Amino acid sequence: MTSLDIPELALVALVGISGSGKSTFARRHFASTQVLSSDAFRAMVADDENDQSASAEAFDVLHYVAGKRLRAGRLTVVDATNLQPHARAGLVRVAREHDVLPVAIVLDVPEVLAWERTEERADRTFGRPVLARMSRDLRRTYGQLAREGFRKVHVLRGVAEIDAAEVRYEKLF
Ligand code: GTP
Ligand code: MG
Repeated sequence: MTSLDIPELALVALVGISGSGKSTFARRHFASTQVLSSDAFRAMVADDENDQSASAEAFDVLHYVAGKRLRAGRLTVVDATNLQPHARAGLVRVAREHDVLPVAIVLDVPEVLAWERTEERADRTFGRPVLARMSRDLRRTYGQLAREGFRKVHVLRGVAEIDAAEVRYEKLF
């Protein structure tokens, strides 16, 4: 078992390519009300969870809700790929504005596995090159997370490690 130590109050960013299992992981380890998913916010503002043109508006609202939750002292998990520096910067900013620690959990599965899973899904229609680009973005992300301000970076490599992970809450005081 791998224990993922997370402060009781944190902004947790899941990081991973599409099909890496972020939403599955979030469902398993967190209450549904703790999880803010970019899909849900795209659907909320644009009636389509895959409408990438709605991302800016969707993240505006997501950040707003995250801020409200953090202000109330509620752990918040952001289920989005979080592969772009500007996406992560937005989360670090919201966390800092509320004196909350930003934490990253990286789910790293082989691209071929993520692609197999993606092909099975009716709710994802993008092509392989999009997934390849996400993989390149993920490689770059590793060197960046700590200096972007994430106070803890947990990396789970492969399905076995992801399966064996348990969240352990650290008392703040
Ligand atoms: P995006 O939302 O597209 O970024 O993907 P995601 O990272 O949220 O992946 P998601 O959790 O939706 O998982 C993608 C597919 O893989 C789903 O059909 C899951 O059922 C499957 N899956 C995820 N994790 C596991 C796992 O640990 N084992 C198995 N067998 N399937 C998994
Ligand atoms: Mg998902």
